[in-house]
Amino acid sequence: MTRQISPAKAIEGTISVPGDKSIAHRAALLSLLAEGPITVINFPESADCQTSLRAAQQLGVEVETFSDRLVLRPPDEFSLPPDTVVDCGNSGTTARLLSGIIAGSEAEVTLSGDESLQRRPMKRIIDPLTRMGAEIFAEHNRLPMRIRGARLLPFEYRLPVASAQVKSAILLAGLASGCTTVVREDQVTRDHTELMLQELGEGLEVRHIKPVLVDDPVDPRKRRMEMPEPFKKEVTLSGQARLLGGLVDIPGDISSAAFFFAAAAISGGKVTVENCGLNPTRTGFLDYLKACGCNVKIEDRATVSGEPRGRVSVTGGKLKPRKIQGETTVALIDEIPIVSVIAAYTQGTTIIRDAAELKVKESDRLAAVAQNLDRMGIKCGILDDGLAIEGRIELSGADFRSFGDHRIAMAFAVAALGAVGPSTIDDDTIVDISCPGFFDLLDGIRSE
Ligand code: S3P
Repeated sequence: MTRQISPAKAIEGTISVPGDKSIAHRAALLSLLAEGPITVINFPESADCQTSLRAAQQLGVEVETFSDRLVLRPPDEFSLPPDTVVDCGNSGTTARLLSGIIAGSEAEVTLSGDESLQRRPMKRIIDPLTRMGAEIFAEHNRLPMRIRGARLLPFEYRLPVASAQVKSAILLAGLASGCTTVVREDQVTRDHTELMLQELGEGLEVRHIKPVLVDDPVDPRKRRMEMPEPFKKEVTLSGQARLLGGLVDIPGDISSAAFFFAAAAISGGKVTVENCGLNPTRTGFLDYLKACGCNVKIEDRATVSGEPRGRVSVTGGKLKPRKIQGETTVALIDEIPIVSVIAAYTQGTTIIRDAAELKVKESDRLAAVAQNLDRMGIKCGILDDGLAIEGRIELSGADFRSFGDHRIAMAFAVAALGAVGPSTIDDDTIVDISCPGFFDLLDGIRSE
């Protein structure tokens, strides 16, 4: 449904956001491979996470629901009719992680998805999983995709794209098949799979490659720092690795919190999010806000189920443009739409680089952001791998399109709060993919 959004006079409040989508996907899907039950606290209602939960259930996981937790009991074995079709809906994480699990499980399953998911690239998982020994049939490397699992071979892989989904698919294939698997990353991506496998099991090791001091071959009086390996991180899953089961307590999703922090940033207001996930592979957005001139305060830090969390308060300040590229882009990859909105409210030009992946998310997010910013009267150039945004202090309200993408809808709902004049969003239900209750939360922190 189309939703009207009027500008807000002020932004202030304390909220909790739904549980982290990435962690919830992993809890649901890993239950397929566990030896004992996985108990999950704060499993979100988000449509994508419910898709993973339904998929696990369809493949044999028993789900018991209590008022404050879910208990996921693994199946004894994977025995399914060969015409089993699992609907992955809008969720790339479900499709890619589940592909790994099926590839290593000697099952035969077809994965399907909605129109957006059918457009997203699967070659990135088809290539490594096929090399491990699975058979995968997918026209044009897109969904629907039939996967025939097998006893896989030990495997070493250096990721050609920075993708936590690809890394996880390979590790889960290795775990399902009981074969040693090594994944190397040139850019460090989110590590929820590694943390959960370590928390709930044994047999996973992580090596971070640090620069070392070496002699300069030309001038032996000099020394310089050099990377001993061409990659930054190596994850090794032993062939004897086990996933025992246990408790997963999910923190609030920092990628949902980001929209409310952004509302504070563009309005000079203050927003606090309780129990916000603070995994360092996900906090690039908070670093960006600090670099822009906002005040970011973190209290009550704790680590629960291997994942850091805390109470995060963001207070807006005078915004300065900051260039975003390289590892920073990876650390806020899902936040680029809302970063672009902040950039639009920042006097000067913001350049975002190394973000070509945004073209193959739930929508082409570079094109979607540029089109919506254009409607607000903002000049936004689409680069090969990013955006160049010329920000201004005063922006006009507009009729925004969500492009069927939850993060585009939420980013421009926030943009509407600071604009002059009313705005509309064409599809307000799409936010349920990752943040059900988004508009109520937004109403709770704004005053007219
Ligand atoms: C995710 C990884 C990221 C991210 C996506 C969730 C995950 O995708 O954009 O929203 O849970 O592993 P890539 O791994 O494809 O970059």
